Amino acid sequence: MEKKWWHKSVVYEIYPRSFYDSNNDGIGDINGIIEKLDYLKLLGIDVIWLGPVYKSPNDDNGYDISDYCDIMDEFGTMEDMDNLLREANSRGIKIVMDLVVNHTSDEHPWFIEAKKSKDNKYRDYYVWRDPIDGKEPNEMGSLFSGSAWQYDEASGQYYMHIFSKKQPDLNWENIEVRKAVWDIVNFWCEKGVGGFRMDVIDLIGKVPDKMITGNGPKLHEYLKEMNKNSFGKYDLLTVGETWGATPEIAKLYSNPEEKELSMVFQFEHIGLDEQPGKEKWDLKPLELKELKRVFSKWQSSLEGKGWNSLFWNNHDLPRIVSRWGNDKEYRVESAKMLATLLHGLKGTPYIYQGEELGMTNVHFNSIDEYDDIETLNMYKDRIAKGYSHEEIMKSIYAKGRDNARTPMQWDDSENGGFTSGKPWLAVNKNYKEINAKAAVEDENSIFHHYRKLVDIRKNSETIIYGEYRELDAENPDVFAYIRELDGDKVVVICNFTDKIATFKEDSMEIGDSKVLLSNYKDIVELKNTMSLRPYEAIMYRM
Ligand code: NOJ
Repeated sequence: MEKKWWHKSVVYEIYPRSFYDSNNDGIGDINGIIEKLDYLKLLGIDVIWLGPVYKSPNDDNGYDISDYCDIMDEFGTMEDMDNLLREANSRGIKIVMDLVVNHTSDEHPWFIEAKKSKDNKYRDYYVWRDPIDGKEPNEMGSLFSGSAWQYDEASGQYYMHIFSKKQPDLNWENIEVRKAVWDIVNFWCEKGVGGFRMDVIDLIGKVPDKMITGNGPKLHEYLKEMNKNSFGKYDLLTVGETWGATPEIAKLYSNPEEKELSMVFQFEHIGLDEQPGKEKWDLKPLELKELKRVFSKWQSSLEGKGWNSLFWNNHDLPRIVSRWGNDKEYRVESAKMLATLLHGLKGTPYIYQGEELGMTNVHFNSIDEYDDIETLNMYKDRIAKGYSHEEIMKSIYAKGRDNARTPMQWDDSENGGFTSGKPWLAVNKNYKEINAKAAVEDENSIFHHYRKLVDIRKNSETIIYGEYRELDAENPDVFAYIRELDGDKVVVICNFTDKIATFKEDSMEIGDSKVLLSNYKDIVELKNTMSLRPYEAIMYRM
């Protein structure tokens, strides 16, 4: 496979609203990001995935766009954005934009026009259907609770919205829509962005009348066409958000011969702590063996035929240290273990803001303290269905999106140094202990562990390109694997539990070995049978 610059990259996701507030209005902004670029440079990342900064009424915090070629007032101006691109590029950091084109805001001029009349030029930019027997055209549900159809009094038709009713779905069957999207992509390409993260891109091939949303029949045709007419002319990183991807589907997207995307986010591991066939809120404990099976499957299936993205976190997911680590007595050890496990794999790693500090989930006492539309809609829906408040809060504490969205904790001053105004969402109370300033000053911090992982990757072709093989596969407590390239070997061994665990792999031939990184101070020699301390994680080179 041809080598690409983004094979070697580590990406850092910024959720702009919560990153850093430079003008003290309580909302993060673009100038705030510019002020913190040196922090990111120190961490060593070379790409930023920038959450949506476009004009938006913020029904879904920027994922409802009303102008794709302008900047949200709270975040700054286009001049600020140009500065950010320049300042980031001068530090060797590329900016990947969030491209949200499955839907727009209902305040986008296209939708405002579309609503005016059935024969308006923009009507067909969206998905409209007549009522059937006075009701919704079909049973399709919104991912934010309730029906995916919203009645429009004026025209007597329904429009489709997979997300909130303020996020009407674009009709990709319409070539004018597709051309308009290419124009937007080209506009940003010409500004010198490093690529695009494509929001719920697997929904664009939807067939509403058959209730098909993900993986529709024309999805790959549309992507090939978009690649050819826009970003494919540049050397960019493109990553699709694809909840419905299997390894076979991921190869269609990310095999370079297909000329679609660089890689996709697949979510198979993310669903392992929910009850099969139910919603993300219906919890079940994670079994490590399942996680190992899923990661190993993805590592092997894409070998030579596609490219993985590697992530634990993003702005929609709970904090990994609270989820699958231990955010109490082993917060530091378990956060480092999870980082080591992920960053030793093959693919492009993504770090979500605050993950490098071991930021944790948040527990607000009242539902009124939450902001996220998905959480609030689910709360109402489940109360109406008879769930108890306590039961619902338990799910929100475990899975709510605001866990990831509390402001970044910069120091131990008020509001964690995020703002001196009133933050749009309360800061997690643990900011006095968990914050960037303390982490940068402490050479044993989670931050420096991440920094070393990024550095090790940059300097190791074996980690970037080596083949993956699982070790001690049946072990229910330990996740271990070996990466190998031209005889150079890297071994990663992680205890996923808060107890002593034993690693045992007789088939591994051990020559000279050296510890590249560990989350305990004293060094343990690599052996075929090893006892591991709680959450111990070691990376060796053989
Ligand atoms: C996925 C985004 O990550 C999420 O935050 C958003 O709510 C939906 N897509 C809708 O755009």
